[in-house]
Amino acid sequence: MGPPPSTSFAGPPPRAGEDFRSDFPGIGEVWHYLDTAATAQKPQRVIDAIARGYGPDYATVHRGVYKRSADMTLAYEAARRRVAGFIGAGSENEIVFVRGATEGINLVATCWAGEQLKAGDRILLSQLEHHSNIVPWQMVAEKVGAHIDVIPLTEDHCIDLDAMAAMITPAHKLVSLAHVSNVLGSVLNCRRAADIARAVGAKILLDGCQAVPRMRVDVQALNCDFYVFSAHKLYGPTGFGVLWARPELLEAMPPYQGGGAMIDRVSFEKTTYAPPPGRFEAGTPHIVGALGLHAAIDYVESIGLERIHAIETDLVAQTRAALSQINSVRLFGPEESAGIVSFVIEGVHPHDIGTILDEEGVAIRAGHHCAQPLMASLGVDATARASFGVYSDASDVDALIRGIERVTRIFG
Ligand code: ALA
Repeated sequence: MGPPPSTSFAGPPPRAGEDFRSDFPGIGEVWHYLDTAATAQKPQRVIDAIARGYGPDYATVHRGVYKRSADMTLAYEAARRRVAGFIGAGSENEIVFVRGATEGINLVATCWAGEQLKAGDRILLSQLEHHSNIVPWQMVAEKVGAHIDVIPLTEDHCIDLDAMAAMITPAHKLVSLAHVSNVLGSVLNCRRAADIARAVGAKILLDGCQAVPRMRVDVQALNCDFYVFSAHKLYGPTGFGVLWARPELLEAMPPYQGGGAMIDRVSFEKTTYAPPPGRFEAGTPHIVGALGLHAAIDYVESIGLERIHAIETDLVAQTRAALSQINSVRLFGPEESAGIVSFVIEGVHPHDIGTILDEEGVAIRAGHHCAQPLMASLGVDATARASFGVYSDASDVDALIRGIERVTRIFG
């Protein structure tokens, strides 16, 4: 986690002593939503921004000569500036709007790695990566003849940076790691990982999906080359996300897809392309997605990322302490995990845990969490996972623990 970004988008002052739960119409009084790592509930402010965007403000962007369209273009580009400020980017031109982190990684795999890597080059990933940070690299590696190496985990399930330092070589051209694990909540020491990558001249991509909703991110301080995240995990809309890249990397990358909006001039003889970020945004974009993300950033900054982090850290500590009192529970991940707790109960399939908890009004995720190689290294097929958000409170932890006690009674 870096220092706060130097930005003019400091956001409104922190709110004190408020009930964040009531900001979220998707969360009733008696529903305990502990699946925020899968997708976050939406505050009314985001829902209103989306409704306005599709309602009285709706028009296309970058094309219309009429006022509504010009206003919508300004709002769309204001969202880009807001994102740039939020993650400490040098300029809004470094922000590419994509469908989500998955598309952001695929874009880098295709347009950077697909162009730069050659046979014999190596890519470094870790054992805890989400499938979206494994499969795109496998696809490009197969195409160019590159190899993938995997950094193991420490005993408390963090990416082992000592092992990374020992195994990286000048043949490694790209390192791609989760900033925060979606299964374990393990937080990467990004700065150290970046230093290790840079020492051999490798580029580093960070998957920030689970980091941006719960800690302040400054891409300059993290010293990375690419950073991706999805809006829907940050209390924003689905189908929208961000790729940040260093400007010189974006400049050197060819387009991802061809179509309208990404061009400079088109003729049958020769087409030239728009500069970044437009070059990577073919077609009519997810206009209202940008407005929703803007509102979501306003929302989290009205509370403060430091405060959200503190709320979630406290709830993780309560949950881990209570679960560790139950003999049949096996906990994964480090004690200081960020907002996420994964566990199994001896002799009970995680799907059964999830089903019984659902009867108790507690929603968790059970399964492999799109991280099958991690499951294999933990020696399980699946885990139960509770993940917190800004609306979570001690009543959610109590309900979870009551539900787990019921599970252990049912399964003896
Ligand atoms: N990556 C999302 C999760 O962890 C889908 O649940």
